[in-house]
Amino acid sequence: VRIGILFGGPSAEHDVSCASALGVARALAGGGYRIVAIGVTRAGGLRLVPDAALSGFLAGTTSERAIDDRLTVIGPAVELRAGPRAGTAVVTAMDAPGAVHAELDVVFPVLHGPFGEDGVVQGVLESLGVPYVGCGILASAVGMDKVAMKRALRAEGVPITPHVSFDATTYRTIEDPEKLVLGLRRPLFVKPARMGSSIGISRVAEGDDLAAAIEEALRHDTVVVVEQGVSGRELECGVLGGARPDASAVGEVRVSGGWFDYRQKYFGDTDPMVVPAPLSREVSERIRELSVRAFAAIGGWGLARVDFLYDEAAGELYVNELNTMPGFTAHSMYPKVWAAAGVGYREILDRLVALAFA
Ligand code: DAL
Ligand code: MG
Repeated sequence: VRIGILFGGPSAEHDVSCASALGVARALAGGGYRIVAIGVTRAGGLRLVPDAALSGFLAGTTSERAIDDRLTVIGPAVELRAGPRAGTAVVTAMDAPGAVHAELDVVFPVLHGPFGEDGVVQGVLESLGVPYVGCGILASAVGMDKVAMKRALRAEGVPITPHVSFDATTYRTIEDPEKLVLGLRRPLFVKPARMGSSIGISRVAEGDDLAAAIEEALRHDTVVVVEQGVSGRELECGVLGGARPDASAVGEVRVSGGWFDYRQKYFGDTDPMVVPAPLSREVSERIRELSVRAFAAIGGWGLARVDFLYDEAAGELYVNELNTMPGFTAHSMYPKVWAAAGVGYREILDRLVALAFA
């Protein structure tokens, strides 16, 4: 199977995507797949990673950082087009559309955040008619948009925390931002509606500046979500499958400073993940069941990581969000919760590729 790996991308999670793609590409290459690595530059252009760079990448002698930094210079600018046979795509040279570099049977968009995880790339792949890994257009779009996601979850009876949302225009016309969050208890979490990796998110405790937090979120999106914080534990569960998906073991993120921000996610010196999370059988079963329901609520396909907040004292579980292309390095939570359930990294990938063709 010839698999195109799309990575990088214009979103603020570009670096995370490069790291995820490295893990995925190495495991797939080890599993006998023919890898075609296609870097998406920060400007949104496609660059084919040449074989020599790819070998270095896969052997670990070329770091994801080096691939990333040189993405715009290391390979030819390319385009994806529908292939000569139905269900395939071809990577063609941008300056000579007839010159085909590679033919693909399936594409794995290892892209996080807007553009790659929100249905845009999925729409391109649909229009080419090539199978691709993961959620389709709608589930990707709903999963990326925290407002739409909460509506979908609530409609299906999945518990979510109290929240409000508003757009930049509404915010600019209101004198006192406190009026927008009436009824919500602090601490509040102020978030851009469509982002990942905690980018643009602020925690607003008693005495903190709500307006500054909203301005920060508005730097990333025109819509802002404000959620009431839950004092409790952060738990995560993997979903893998199609119409009748499986749920993994449950993992826990032990945060310091109140929440799991970008710095702790990627630059912490201690591994904050505890897998499996110490929980009663009853609570972990409930999390697994809610994960599958949340996945169905957005119309998921392939994979998602479902993130929970658990108020242990009150015995309340809330779905915080779904991530339709969760971090996928060998050290990421998604592979770890599956390993704890007896499903190895390569098996996850084999199942995902099979689901792309289903
Ligand atoms: N958005 C990051 C990659 C995650 O959810 O893991
Ligand atoms: Mg997310």
